[in-house]
Amino acid sequence: MRTVTVGLLGCGSVGQNVLNLLERRRAIFADLGVQLVVCGVLVRDIGAQRDVPAGTPLTTDPSFLNECGMVVEVMGGIDKPLSLLSPILRSDRPVITANKALLAERWDVLREHALGGRLYYESAVMAGTPIIGPMSTVLRASRFIRLQAVLNGTCAYILSQMEEGKPYQQALSEAQALGYAEDPPTLDVGGFDTAHKLAVLARFCADGDFKFADVKVRGIEDVTLDDIEAARASGEKIKLVATLERDGSGWKAEVAPTRLSNDHPICTSGAGRNAMVYEGEECGPLVFAGGGAGGMVTASAVVGDIMDCVLGFPGHVPLH
Ligand code: HSE
Repeated sequence: MRTVTVGLLGCGSVGQNVLNLLERRRAIFADLGVQLVVCGVLVRDIGAQRDVPAGTPLTTDPSFLNECGMVVEVMGGIDKPLSLLSPILRSDRPVITANKALLAERWDVLREHALGGRLYYESAVMAGTPIIGPMSTVLRASRFIRLQAVLNGTCAYILSQMEEGKPYQQALSEAQALGYAEDPPTLDVGGFDTAHKLAVLARFCADGDFKFADVKVRGIEDVTLDDIEAARASGEKIKLVATLERDGSGWKAEVAPTRLSNDHPICTSGAGRNAMVYEGEECGPLVFAGGGAGGMVTASAVVGDIMDCVLGFPGHVPLH
């Protein structure tokens, strides 16, 4: 049996679910000949209420990172995780992250490590609904034409609740209570979280060095119940849609509230969920849909990445 030591950065809703799911899947790791040992869990407040396995080594001191064979980052933010992860990546140790903001905005530092196969981030886009895996492997055989997607669970939830007549502010509070929203939720409702995710995806199908700043962003703050009613009268729904498509010799990447017909696959795939229509010349139009936010849904993809890593599969390698 091989022992693999894992460090965890962050123990919010996703981190707690990762720890519990690792515990639940202990037998599968054993079948793979691996005993995973969590050697430290970095938190801000040790005394906070948490649902984690007994004996979880919570700490505010990141020095345990020196001992870790791999590091899992689910703390969010940009500068702090980057400073903690940089030495790990520089020492060629694998990193698994759910942090789309970090991936989108600090690609200048992370790209070389992703190209080296040391960065795993299936959970960063559409959470437990696999999209980065297919885009970084099988879909490359087809010439990419276009994608259209709902990538933010908070906005999907808010807009679906507004369709039921709920005011915007009440729907936002409910999305926060469900653990979907970022802190601050401006990242969600302003469209920036969707733009982060679109930039991450663009690096697999458009340009391996796609810049976050090249995404044009508009959020849902100005969408009113009247707008939703007007769409309904035309047999349409309003969704916060991310679009990536060819534009001459370059790419057009945009996030904006968009009216789509009720029978569009993005509208029929579930009110609060994520969904994508991906079009490649040879593979044709494909639909991916499922849970895209929330603790256990996200943890399922994080633990999947840990399994890939211990099996020796490379991380998610963008276009060269
Ligand atoms: N705040 C994000 C969302 C979480 O609502 O989709 C998952 O990335």
